[in-house]
Amino acid sequence: MPPSLPDDPESTASDIDRVYAEAKEAISPFVFNHQVAQVFDDMIARSVPGYALCHEVLALITNRYAQPGSVLFDLGCSSGTSTNVLANSSPTNCKVIGIDNSQPMIDRCQVTLHDLIENDRITLRCQDIGDTDLTGASIIVLNYTLQFLPLAIRDQLMTRIYQSLLPGGIVFIAEKVTNPEHAQQQAINDLHLDFKRQQGYSELEIAQKRSALEAVLIPETETAHHQRLTQCGFEIPQTLTRALNFIAFMGQKPRSNSKPASYQSGLGSR
Ligand SMILES: C[S@@+](CC[C@H](N)C(=O)[O-])C[C@H]1O[C@@H](n2cnc3c(N)ncnc32)[C@H](O)[C@@H]1O
Repeated sequence: MPPSLPDDPESTASDIDRVYAEAKEAISPFVFNHQVAQVFDDMIARSVPGYALCHEVLALITNRYAQPGSVLFDLGCSSGTSTNVLANSSPTNCKVIGIDNSQPMIDRCQVTLHDLIENDRITLRCQDIGDTDLTGASIIVLNYTLQFLPLAIRDQLMTRIYQSLLPGGIVFIAEKVTNPEHAQQQAINDLHLDFKRQQGYSELEIAQKRSALEAVLIPETETAHHQRLTQCGFEIPQTLTRALNFIAFMGQKPRSNSKPASYQSGLGSR
């Protein structure tokens, strides 16, 4: 089944993901280059089950927990879908900053979020997450980005996120996850393949992209993610959305050391 154009009336055939449609002699590791940036919105919507739901929930979280006058970071902002949600769901005196180390993705994002950037609602930076000062944040988002960072630096990054967040601040993360039970992993993986077929990807596209992502996208288990947040000091890490092997979860930095471990409403701070 050939891919159909998305509902967006402004989308064109050149926005459709055909990156792996033709047979390649050798498959290079996946990179967020110009070719990917051009079709990124189509690629992620057709590859990640629950992508839209994750952003619906991010809007609810932002609306409730964004602290007036604070900074909201979207780390690995790509074309700006999460950045847009942060800007549209937070108090107008919040500063929204999108970070990505791919210049083609930042260029794409600049086009998508043009009006919000012009109005000083959003700032974009082409920068490595490791070099980003996160001080003063009330929300830090890592949507489908942590999985692309080396395993060895994930603990350190999450500790820095915890230290940088304001009291009561939120880390919101979406990831592909693996299941430690082989049979369950196999079943969920098969369903993910069915999802991609249903989205119009051919067997060749699926196989070539999988090979390109093999050493680049390193998923962890849901338990490992929750444990990491707990070890950093976040209260009650909780999975908020799940679609096949993709989840979104959050953790909250305690407002003070003395309060019991429970989610605390951001409404009181408005
Ligand atoms: C799967 S995309 C993120 C999708 C996006 N958050 C969304 O919700 O649509 C991952 C992004 O992370 C960026 N990225 C990967 N490693 C990075 C790093 N070390 N520093 C900054 N950005 C990084 C990539 O360039 C890519 O645009």
